[in-house]
Amino acid sequence: MAFFSSFASWAILSLVLIFGVIVLKAEARPKAFFVFGDSLVDSGNNNYLATTARADAPPYGIDYPTRRPTGRFSNGYNIPDLISQQLGSESPLPYLSPQLRGEKLLVGANFASAGIGILNDTGIQFVNIIRMYRQYEHFEEYQRRVATQIGASQAKLLVNQALVLITVGGNDFVNNYYLVPYSARSRQYPLPEYVKFLISEYKKLLLKLYDLGGRRVLVTGTGPLGCVPAEMAQRGTNGQCSPELEQAAGLFNPQLESMLLELNRNLRSDVFIAANTARMHNNFVSNPQAFGFTTSKVACCGQGPYNGLGLCTPLSNLCPNRDLYAFWDAFHPSEKANKLIVEGIMSGSKSYMNPMNLSTILALDVYT
Ligand SMILES: *[C@@H]1O[C@H](CO)[C@@H](O)[C@H](O)[C@H]1NC(C)=O
Ligand SMILES: *[C@@H]1O[C@H](CO)[C@@H](O)[C@H](O)[C@H]1NC(C)=O
Repeated sequence: MAFFSSFASWAILSLVLIFGVIVLKAEARPKAFFVFGDSLVDSGNNNYLATTARADAPPYGIDYPTRRPTGRFSNGYNIPDLISQQLGSESPLPYLSPQLRGEKLLVGANFASAGIGILNDTGIQFVNIIRMYRQYEHFEEYQRRVATQIGASQAKLLVNQALVLITVGGNDFVNNYYLVPYSARSRQYPLPEYVKFLISEYKKLLLKLYDLGGRRVLVTGTGPLGCVPAEMAQRGTNGQCSPELEQAAGLFNPQLESMLLELNRNLRSDVFIAANTARMHNNFVSNPQAFGFTTSKVACCGQGPYNGLGLCTPLSNLCPNRDLYAFWDAFHPSEKANKLIVEGIMSGSKSYMNPMNLSTILALDVYT
């Protein structure tokens, strides 16, 4: 009896020690973070490309710590930066950055490229951009590089335990289907069929990401496509959002969420997390004052109606206080809006984050 109880307490003590060590080990280095997608999450890859889809001139970055443009489509931080802050880590570097080597590789990498879509033919007007299949080739190359540094099994673990963010789809509407009247895709498909086609192509991309080792993947829906200043200026009438693009987002986002939940059922694991960014965004589009914005219709930087025409350049109108604007430029949220979105990702209820928010993920994954 005495033997048994001392054995039991010894066993419990060693379990505590083992788990303590696992927890400490998991906490020693924050999760790696990988980012895929378009301009909403590009942190500067396009700076290295010959393309017009770029944000490397002032006033981009005016509120970034360095006060200089970085390639982020924001006045300051973008959504991946703010997620990294929640992970307690520095922002992963753009994959094309020459500084991405050594220890920096272990932080993760950002593969995103402004202008791209789910489809290969989205954003063709930007010529030289890194389409999704190419972002995945970079991810494979990244994994080979990390494996030479820390060994193949540690590299695999780093990827499996990482957080992944993918934001893509908006451009398949604004820079493809609705880019010009009678676009090739709009002649090929009525809108509901086009959305089904996008969802089926997106599903293939997500399964590929799973094959490449992604096990916790935040998937954002599109924002309120019809209410961005660019669409207000070009398609809206009397200050109303563009009905076609609102309809597109309205069809796409719920089908995306169902597709993700179906993937999880098939994989028997909550790999894919639907982030309802449209709902988060709609809150401040419909009631900007409640979130401290004076407007959600007019971009801070731009020209023409709603500052929604053309690009944000050194010659554009620029608002003095960026925190009062939901939109920084004609398409992209301000840093303040990005903070609200990441708050939603972090602690939103199930109608925002399905099946769970990032706080829950971080609490769960410490022990796995
Ligand atoms: C996109 O391009 C890649 C590389 O050429 C190809 O493997 C893939 O099948 C293409 N996707 C579609 C939907 O055509
Ligand atoms: C995250 O989601 C859970 C479950 O829906 C909820 O209880 C919690 O309040 C949310 N927020 C945080 C910060 O955990």
